[in-house]
This record gives sequence, structure tokens and C-alpha cells, in this order.
Amino acid sequence: MNARYILGIDTSCDDTGVGIVELRPGGGVTVRANRVWSQTVHAQYGGVMPELASREHVERIDDVLEGALEDAGLTLGDLHAVAATSGPGLVGALLVGLMYGKGLAQALGVPFYAAHHLEGHIFAAAAEAELEAPYLALVVSGGHTHLFDVLAPGDYRLVGATRDDAAGEAFDKVARLVGLGYPGGPAIGEAALRGDPDAVPFKPPLKGQSGFDFSFSGLKTAALLAHRAGAKPDDLAASFQQAAVRTLVETTVRAAQATGRPTVVVSGGVAANRALREAFGRTGLRVVFPGPGLNTDNGAMIALSGAAAIMAGRAPSPLSVGAEAYAPLATVAAS
Ligand code: KG4
Ligand code: ZN
Repeated sequence: MNARYILGIDTSCDDTGVGIVELRPGGGVTVRANRVWSQTVHAQYGGVMPELASREHVERIDDVLEGALEDAGLTLGDLHAVAATSGPGLVGALLVGLMYGKGLAQALGVPFYAAHHLEGHIFAAAAEAELEAPYLALVVSGGHTHLFDVLAPGDYRLVGATRDDAAGEAFDKVARLVGLGYPGGPAIGEAALRGDPDAVPFKPPLKGQSGFDFSFSGLKTAALLAHRAGAKPDDLAASFQQAAVRTLVETTVRAAQATGRPTVVVSGGVAANRALREAFGRTGLRVVFPGPGLNTDNGAMIALSGAAAIMAGRAPSPLSVGAEAYAPLATVAAS
């Protein structure tokens, strides 16, 4: 059998992503294209405006698809399957990519696979090292902070999650507080290079808990108080980042010890953070991160989900599948 090409579409939030992966007969997978249009319209509001996100997806998706095909050196007729995110995410935004993907699959006469956004993030990292389960997966993004025990692809157990803000959301809010703009994660990372991480003391969140949950609202409030007390933005950025990284790494290490998993994949937008990567590098665990361009939302991770579904012999999704704002990964795993 020849190589098969799978298209993946993600429009769950404010990035219009279309990616293509090549699935070789032996089971190897290579990312052939990964085009993302990151919507800039939201910057002026300091957060994502759902209605504007949907409209932008509609306006951009044709061009993003064309660019991905061009990068891969393929035409629509070369595609063997289409995957698109059905949830979780902003419903109006999800619907754009989901309907587009279903229509494309039907027009081309190829199977369609609905994909779970968080599973896509996990596959983005897992593909880097062709991992064997079981392993832990920490998904840290603007909307999620979830720690899963991956028993097998498609079989996930939730080990811990944030009790309030997502990690990326906290980075974004602290960045806005000190005037660093949106999205704040990369801006905090840069400002932190110039600041003193020990200048502002942050209390460790959920200290003494026996479980593996996360909390970021206390760090956010502490940042606000320090800002009002006159802390320098660079010092505040460095200190906040250190505290956020510490809680993510320490909780994950404890979970790895408790479950006996030697390997952790870390994915989602915040996985691009250099301090987080360095801190995980010092843990002694085997830690796998997504490759360049695969941390933040993208279509290639959804194409990887499609490839995994094909390899696992999963039946294609019915074209009646709908978009779901709230979709716990466990329900998808059971389907
Ligand atoms: O995965 P993603 O693109 O979207 C969601 O599914 O939410 O993640 C976006 C989030 C934003 O909150 C952004 O500030 C954060 O990831 N982020 C970072 C970095 N790059 C992106 N946070 C910290 N350091 C970074 N370098
Ligand atoms: Zn995401």
C-alpha cells in the first residue's frame, strides 16, 4: 500500500489551523504541512471574542487549506481522510472547521473523523517520540490544565486538573495586568528573562494537598497585589513564571511517582515556555514536548489524531456528529 495523506482542521478557538500528515504503510507518521492563521483581531479586546473568531475562521479557512496543500506538494485529490475538531472549544468557531471538514470529506468521497482537541494536543507531543503507553500527559493551554494517565491511545484517566484558571489564562491575565499585551504567555516569557524570579514572593498553590490538582487564581491575585505595591513588570513576570512553572512541574513529578510512569508528555500553548521546558528537563523524568509549531493550536495535531484513529481501526465518524463546547476526554475515549 502507498502512503496515505490525512488532513486535519482545528478551529476551536482563535487559530485557524490546517495540517497534513503522511501515514506510511509500516505505521510511521510525518507532518507534511502545518499552516496556522493566528487571529489578531482579538488583541484590542485583551481576550478572544467568540463571534469575531467564527467570522475570521470563515474568511480564512480556504486560504489556510490552500497553503497547507501547497506546503505538502499535494492536491485535494491526494487526500485519503479528513479529520476536524468537534470539541471542546467555542461552539461557533468549532462549527466552521467541523462543517468544512465534513463537506470536504463528502465531496472527496473519503472518510471523516471527528477529533477531540485535547487528544490532538497529546498526539502532537506523542508523535515526536513514537511513544509506547502508558505515560502521563500534561496539557497546558489557554483553556485547559489537565493531567492524564494515558493507558493506551484513546484510553485516558484524568489524574488532575485546574480548580480555577487554566495556566495559559493566568499567563495572559498577568501579562495584561503589567501591560505586556495579548497573548501574554510569550510576552511573560520574554520579560522574565530580564527580571529577578525571587523579587516577588508567591505562596505555592494547594500546598499540602494529596491529590494532583492545580490552581492559578491565587497566583493571579498575588500578582495583582504585588503590581499595586509597585513591583517592576519584569520582576513580576519572572517571579510569576517561576511560581507557575514550579506548581506545574512539582505536581506532575508527584503524579509520576505515584503512578510509576517514567514518561511525561507536555503539550498545549504553555508547553512552548522555555522556563517550563528547562524545569522539566531537571526532573530526571523522560519528558517529551511537541516539535516546533505544534505546541499551540494547529491542524497537524488533528491530522495526527485522524492517523491514530485509522491505525487503531476506528470507524469513521457519522456526518451527523455535532460540535461540543464541553467534551470530557473520557467520553470520547469510550466511543
Ligand atoms: O494551546 P493554545 O494555542 O490554545 C488553547 O487551546 O487554549 O494555548 C494558548 C495559550 C495562551 O494562553 C498563551 O498565552 C499560552 O498558551 N502560551 C504560552 C507561551 N506560548 C503560548 N504561555 C507561556 N509561555 C509561552 N511561551
Ligand atoms: Zn488548544
